[in-house]
Order: sequence, then structure tokens, then C-alpha cells
Amino acid sequence: MSLDATLTHIDAALPEATERLLELMRIQSISTDPAFKADCDRAADWMVADLQSIGFDVQKRPTPGHPMVVGHAGPADGAPHLLFYGHYDVQPVDPLHLWDRDPFDATVESTPTGEVIRGRGAADDKGQLMTFVEALRAWKSVNGEFPCRITVFLEGEEESGSPSLVPFMEENADELRADFAMICDTVMFQSRTPAITTMLRGLLGEELTIKAASKDLHSGMFGGISINPIRVLSRIIASLHDDTGRITVPGFYDGVPDLPDDLEAQWQGLNFDHAGFLNEVGLSHPAGEQDRTPLEMIWSRPTCEVNGIGGGYQGDGFKTVIPAEASAKISFRLVGDQDPHAIRQSFRAMVEEMLPPDCEAVWSAHGASRASGAATDDPAFAAALKALSEEWQIPAAYIGCGGSIPIAGHFANILDTPPMLIGFGKDDDQIHSPNEKYDMQSFHKGIRSWARILDAVS
Ligand code: BES
Ligand code: ZN
Repeated sequence: MSLDATLTHIDAALPEATERLLELMRIQSISTDPAFKADCDRAADWMVADLQSIGFDVQKRPTPGHPMVVGHAGPADGAPHLLFYGHYDVQPVDPLHLWDRDPFDATVESTPTGEVIRGRGAADDKGQLMTFVEALRAWKSVNGEFPCRITVFLEGEEESGSPSLVPFMEENADELRADFAMICDTVMFQSRTPAITTMLRGLLGEELTIKAASKDLHSGMFGGISINPIRVLSRIIASLHDDTGRITVPGFYDGVPDLPDDLEAQWQGLNFDHAGFLNEVGLSHPAGEQDRTPLEMIWSRPTCEVNGIGGGYQGDGFKTVIPAEASAKISFRLVGDQDPHAIRQSFRAMVEEMLPPDCEAVWSAHGASRASGAATDDPAFAAALKALSEEWQIPAAYIGCGGSIPIAGHFANILDTPPMLIGFGKDDDQIHSPNEKYDMQSFHKGIRSWARILDAVS
């Protein structure tokens, strides 16, 4: 097996690899919107055909939601058994008017800092998942076979909370259990340092509607005597944090661990440039719990954020109305052993307690996933770290991640398969936002990184 020849092949084949990624990105696989169901199906078909073309025994597997794609290759007894996970679904594109081009007319653009692949799903997660697919293709093409037993497992519902995933994992546990789950859906540290993510936050979502009068009211005729649900909702939202940034939901901090000294020391050594991180998005002040460092705020501390709010008249001009209802979408990022179900209960009880007469809270529950982590004591982690350092010519780091990938915890808990989270995204990729991109450098060196990791751990 020749790593050098595989890397050379990857360099030469980059234009074709890029074309394949652009083709995949042109499929509008928005999982949360039922109007795109057929497109999600097409993306799964595309993945099946592509994996077949490199010798995988692969199928589209139905679920009550969008299909999974599961493929196997390599010697059945070839240790280790590596499972590669990615998601072929993408986020909705709105607000569409903020895109500089059609989000699904994917293309390569030249920018002052290098070439970028532009379009919805470039970085989250089509570009990322194609890094390991292309590495596998190159390996097969140069060496004639795969270096170990490989399973590719792709889902199409990650961006809508993976509702079919746990049942699918439970039903297919023997088939999916592996030595490691290589998850390619994370970023590098400060867009430069290659990294293995060892901590992910959990996520709890709640949609709250406060209902009051039986209809919208004239605020002259009824103002003063009738309760305004926007005022009630605002008070509730304003009370969720105290003046120091601490979250006030009773019991919220149960299970939140202190940062261990060794981790604190390691994070200090990363020299996180929080001013630069905030400056990039037009901010300057770390706004979380005031007794915490900026890295703790984004990696190891829990949060409560309002992600959307609505009620009353929001059109042009002015309308003197007291609306019948007001609503908000509120999410909590969770760490350590925080229990999403206990927090949901406590949060709802706190809100119900604050309701004045004539008001009612109507609830809609969204995802509830715990935080997850990866132990790094297996020598495969050190080997992967070394392979990343060699590719990027920068010492790779273990990092945390503020985002949530609930599947990482499911691999550990349901399949007893430790997750290894390696991704090549950058902080300015604008995932979930208009003008999403993936640097050509991320794509190219990402493919090369996987070839090196395959070589190092197999
Ligand atoms: N790829 C992201 C997770 C991520 C975000 C990794 C930022 C690294 C940096 C993933 O697809 C995602 O967006 N997850 C959602 C949760 C999901 C359940 C909708 C998130 O974190 O909000
Ligand atoms: Zn993702």
C-alpha cells in the first residue's frame, strides 16, 4: 500500500472530485421541508450510485422519514472496522435574497484568500462527507482494495433532528457496530489548526406560545384593561438570565461539571483569539456568564438562546393591536450530565408559574439530546492526530465544539462505537446561512487527511 501514490492521485483527481461534489450540491435535499422529499430521495440515490462506483455493497434503506444510505466494503475480517458518518441533507436556504447566487447552482469561486466551493451544503455536510468518499475512491483506485473493513453510513435527517436515527441504529446494531465512528461534520480550530473534537454540546428545543384574548384587539379600546401576551412573553424571556449571564431555570446547572485542570491548561495553550473570533462577526464583548473564559462560553458551558420570536403586527407601517398570542423558539445547549428532559420540565414549570391570569402557555417540544464526548486514550486517536499534523504542517489539537451532533452520543451509547470527530470546516463557512462555502483547501487537504488517517490507523 502506498500512501504517497494515493496522495499524488488525490492531487491529480481534484478537478473530477470537485465536479462530483458540485453535482451532489445541486440536489435540493432540504430535509425539514416536505416539499423537498423527492430531492432527499434523489440525494440518497446519488450517494448509492457513487459508492457503488467505488466497489461498495451499498443500499438505500427506507425509514419513516428520509432514507439512510449504508454501504460496506473491504475485507469482512479486516481490522479495524471503520464506520464513516455524514449527512446528505441540508438546511433551508432562506432568506434567499441575501444569497449572491442561486444556493443550489453550486460553483467554484475565486476569492482574495483562495478558491471556495459555494452553495447550500458546501460545508454542512456535503463537502465534508465527500472528503472521506474521495479518499476512499483514491485509495481503491491506487491500491486496488481498501485497507480495512469500511462501512459508510449517511443520513438525510440530521438537520431536522435525526428522528429516524435511533430506531434505525437499534434495528441494525450488529451491522453498524464498528471500532470507530469517523464523523466528518465539525470545524478546525480557528480555521487553521486541524483538530479532533472531543466535546459536543447537547441541545434542547422548546417552542412556546402565550395565548390570551380570544382574538386580536384594538389597543385603544382594550389597551390597559386586557393582558398583552407580548408583554408576558418578554418578561419571561428577560428573566431567563440574571445580570451575570447565569441561567435562572431551577436545577438547570445540575450535572454541569467544573472544567478539569488538565483540560483548562490544554485550552489555555490553544491561545484562543476571542477578540478576532468576535470581530469577524461585528462583535467585541463576550456576552456569556461573566465569570467564565470565552472558550468555556462556547465549549463547556450551557446556554439558553431565543432563536426566534413573533407576535403582533410586523408588516410595514403601524397597527394599534393587542395580539391574541405571542410565541418564541428557545433552545438550550447542554453540557456534562445535564438531563434535557428534567430541564424541559423545570423550564415549563417556571414559565407556567409566571403566567398572569387569562394567559395560557402552549408548548411544542423540539429535539432533546445530551452532551457527548470522546475519550482519546485509544492509540488510534494519537495516530489520527499525527496524520492530521503531517498533512497540515501544524500540530493538530483536541478541541471542544459548541454545536450539537446528537448522533455522536448515539454511536457510543447504542452501538458501543467510540466517535472520532474530524472535520475541515472553518468558522467563516456560513453554515446554515446565506452564501455557505467550503474552502477548496478544506476539500483538498480534507481528502488527503483521510488518506493519511486510513494509512495510520489501519
Ligand atoms: N455540523 C453541525 C454541527 C456543528 C456546528 C459542528 C458548528 C461544528 C460547528 C450540525 O449539522 C448542526 O448544525 N447541528 C445542529 C443541531 C441539529 C440537531 C439540528 C446544531 O448544532 O444546531
Ligand atoms: Zn452538519
